[in-house]
Amino acid sequence: MPSSDLRLPHPPRGAPVTLRFEGRDLPACEGESVAVALYASGERVLSRSVKYHRPRGFFCLDGHCGACLMRVGGKPNIKACLTPVKDGLAVERQNAFPSGGFDVLAAADFFFSSGMDHHTMMTSPRALNAVMQKVVRQLGGLGRLPDERPGGPPPLPAVSVRHVEVAVVGGGPAGLAAAATLARAGREVLLVDEQDRPGGSYLAHPSFGVPAADRAADEARAAGVELISRAAAISWFPEDAPKPGAPPGLLAVYTQAGLLELTADRYLYATGAYDQNALFIDNDRPGVLAARAVGRLLSRFGILPGERPLVLGAGPYAQALASALENAGAQVTRVDGIETRLLAAKGHSWVRAAELLAPGAKRAHRVRCDLIAVAALPAPASELPRQHGVPVELRPQGGGFACVVDADGASAIPKVFAAGDVTGFKGPEAARTQGERAGLALARSFS
Ligand code: FES
Repeated sequence: MPSSDLRLPHPPRGAPVTLRFEGRDLPACEGESVAVALYASGERVLSRSVKYHRPRGFFCLDGHCGACLMRVGGKPNIKACLTPVKDGLAVERQNAFPSGGFDVLAAADFFFSSGMDHHTMMTSPRALNAVMQKVVRQLGGLGRLPDERPGGPPPLPAVSVRHVEVAVVGGGPAGLAAAATLARAGREVLLVDEQDRPGGSYLAHPSFGVPAADRAADEARAAGVELISRAAAISWFPEDAPKPGAPPGLLAVYTQAGLLELTADRYLYATGAYDQNALFIDNDRPGVLAARAVGRLLSRFGILPGERPLVLGAGPYAQALASALENAGAQVTRVDGIETRLLAAKGHSWVRAAELLAPGAKRAHRVRCDLIAVAALPAPASELPRQHGVPVELRPQGGGFACVVDADGASAIPKVFAAGDVTGFKGPEAARTQGERAGLALARSFS
């Protein structure tokens, strides 16, 4: 495991801070998440899985896979990839005994490598079953209760109510372009984005990166868009009204200031797409990352993700990522996953090799690698617009269930639009173009 700092000499970083990781001080920089700071210091095991206690590292680095749950500041099950570092912040791995690095409960994975049906094990005699139930609870739990426990139920978050002309959900290429277009047309636009920094998939793409993300966000702000980061639109409630007498239907948004009940004359969903894994043995090992997570490490955070990465995927993103990694000094192996197949990741708490099957070969061969970047087609994040009534359809070429909209982004639901990867994965450039077009159509819809 590398002990040195993996941060590259660029880009400019935030002020240095110190993270308290299981009793040790680790260097971090403001602007990094806990997961990124730990990775940069060579720590890849962030947690242990439920039941089999397999080691877990982050996968998506985007808040959507749940692989990075840690105990942070005395609270369990916090997503390390979404938690900003702070000086002195205490971070621990959870769900392990005696430690996340060495977990004796991982014996379950060793002894039951073909699976364990704990419902039918040791059901008698009664005393043995009682012991078994205790062990199962220990294996199956996730985290311990918080250090600080108030006497009663925690207070409900503050609630505010807001109405705007246009609500845009998602601060990636499509959402930013649509919002800027609308604001230039004189519309009042509120854009909510769950990430700490706007830019979405720009920040994961080596050909775009921070400059493209900042440019798009600056243009939107300059046009008059109100942009709230770390604000997750959690649900559409069709039956609730923000106040008595108002028409039903509101968007619940979790912000750092509390819960926002948001209504709008028009809605635009630009919620992007989720990273997917590929099917191969041990694809859950630390060091198997979504390619866009690798792109974020490199392009947003200036961290060399690995010295011998293997990039799995045949599309243009895999090509762009492989080139960027090579330019950063890595020795890259490319596997298209079609002609040459990736059969298995090798390694326990750290990927050390991959087993490949070349075209026409009868036997697999191994290649050394310290990282597997999986460039599988991302799946449209269509749940929220679907709650709002927007129809979706299965489009395998678009990554999954995509919103059905016309060429202007209009859905079958009046005044509800969608644009970008949520309408079928298309990548940053095409998403931006679609967002602009949806913005123009939305602006026209007011006249
Ligand atoms: S949720 Fe944190 S890495 Fe996926």
